[in-house]
Amino acid sequence: MSENRVALVTGANKGIGLQIAKDLAGNGLAVLIGSRKLENGEAAAQGIGERAHAIQLDVTDERSIAAAAERIRSEFGRLDVLVNNAGIVGEFPAGTPFEERLKFNAPSHAPLSYIRSVYETNVFGVIAVTQAMLPLLRESPAGRIVNVGSSSGSLTLNANPQFPYRNIFGAAYSPSKTALSATTLAFAIELQNTNIKVNVVCPGYVATDLNDFRGYRTVEQGAKQAVKMALIGPDGPTGTFTDEDGTVPW
Ligand SMILES: NC(=O)c1ccc[n+]([C@@H]2O[C@H](COP(=O)([O-])OP(=O)(O)OC[C@H]3O[C@@H](n4cnc5c(N)ncnc54)[C@H](OP(=O)(O)O)[C@@H]3O)[C@@H](O)[C@H]2O)c1
Repeated sequence: MSENRVALVTGANKGIGLQIAKDLAGNGLAVLIGSRKLENGEAAAQGIGERAHAIQLDVTDERSIAAAAERIRSEFGRLDVLVNNAGIVGEFPAGTPFEERLKFNAPSHAPLSYIRSVYETNVFGVIAVTQAMLPLLRESPAGRIVNVGSSSGSLTLNANPQFPYRNIFGAAYSPSKTALSATTLAFAIELQNTNIKVNVVCPGYVATDLNDFRGYRTVEQGAKQAVKMALIGPDGPTGTFTDEDGTVPW
């Protein structure tokens, strides 16, 4: 079945998304490399091989999303897998140190414009792209939606005073991932009687641009759970939050 399947990965020009795209192509799917800068997507696609195709897609731009959906229909005629991977901790001037960026984490003085911009990509972008791609996914015999979330957005973990990483839970990024988990569940519930399965995964702490390469996991490790959930069979789960070790508490 894999041979004709088509997958779209947002933010696939680098980092975990690029690895997810490589792995899906390795599993025989045609993979669309969503990239807000087309040339970055083209370079990434070239590195993967003939199964990969660049597609311009800025998840915060309605026109870009609509054009991508139209192009997928006219050029590929189907979409089986959507991986909503694009995500940001915030857009800062190049070279802004990680410590400086963390200052935007305090809810007491984080600028609202900053918080909105993070939600725009990490939450509303996912909803907008999913809505635009759903007509294609509904036509697939086995539609799969995988949202790349984070255990840093787990309310259960962060509500526990003993949780060692709760100081990371701040104004924008982590709550945006909490909202992404909630959004995943909402789509899973609405689509539970269809062929579409919707799950959110955490890649773990992966060395990428997002954290100035401080993560201790490789992109290969970080991509694994997303790829697994993208390729689950008809008996696979929907409405779950997992990482490589199993269930993550909501
Ligand atoms: N790294 C970790 O430890 C970690 C942990 C938990 C969850 N995650 C999640 O994993 C996902 C991938 O992150 P990463 O670590 O691979 O980060 P990354 O290397 O910074 O990659 C992020 C990707 O998202 C793209 N992107 C950002 N805004 C976009 C927009 N408006 N439209 C389309 N694409 C956009 C970026 O494109 P440009 O190249 O154009 O900027 C890039 O391709 C994110 O959702 C992140 O929250 C990461």
